[in-house]
Amino acid sequence: KARLAILLSGRGSNMLALVEATKTGVLKDLAEVVVVFSNKPDAPGLAFAAEQGCPVASLPSQGRKREAFDAEAAQLLQQYRPDFVVLAGYMRILSPAFIQPFAGRILNIHPADTHQHQGLHAYEWAFENQLSETKITVHLVDEGLDTGPILAQQTVDLCGVDTLAEVERRGLAVEHELYAQTLAELIKSQQNVMSSAAETSRVPK
Ligand code: GAR
Repeated sequence: KARLAILLSGRGSNMLALVEATKTGVLKDLAEVVVVFSNKPDAPGLAFAAEQGCPVASLPSQGRKREAFDAEAAQLLQQYRPDFVVLAGYMRILSPAFIQPFAGRILNIHPADTHQHQGLHAYEWAFENQLSETKITVHLVDEGLDTGPILAQQTVDLCGVDTLAEVERRGLAVEHELYAQTLAELIKSQQNVMSSAAETSRVPK
C-alpha cells in the first residue's frame, strides 16, 4: 500500500474524506494514512484525525523562519517514510528545504483553476466574480504558489448559487471525491509501471 502523510492547518474535511476512502472507498487496498501532520497543534483537523485512529504529529510554525521550520518538518515526516505528501488545507508556501526530500511526490488540492487563481480565498473569488462555474484542481507541488503540473481538474457548477456558503458546499463535495480519485489513479499507474518493469526484468536475454 502507498503510504500517505496528510498535512493540514485547519478543519480537515479533505483529510477526513481521504481517511474514509482508505477505509471503505477508492483508496481501500491502495493506500494507508501513516501520519496526519499540522503546523498548528490546535487545528481541529488534527483532533478529528486522532478520533479516526490516525497517527498524528505537529510542529508549531508560528514565529519560526520558513526554511528552518520546513527543514524540521520534512525531517519529522521522513521518519514516517511517506510515498506521498498530501496537502489538505495546509496553508503554507513550501520552501525548497521541504520540497526537495519529497520532490514529485507532494500533491495539493486548490479550490480553483490554478491558471486563473492562486493562493487563498478561491471560493470568495469565484463568488465575488459571480462565476457560473469554477474548477477544483489537484496538482503536484513545485516551488511556486499553485504552479505545479495539474493531475486532475473538475468543474463545479455554480448556477443559481447566491451565498458563499453554497459555493463552498458545492466545491467541497467535488474536492472530497476528486482528491481520493486522483490519488487512486496515480497510485495504480505507478503500480503498473513497477509491475511492467518487473515483467521486463524477468524476460530472458
Ligand atoms: C479546502 O477548500 C482546500 O481546497 C483549501 O482549503 C480548504 C481546506 O478545507 N486549500 C487552499 O485554498 C490551498 N490554497 P479542509 O481543511 O476542510 O480540507
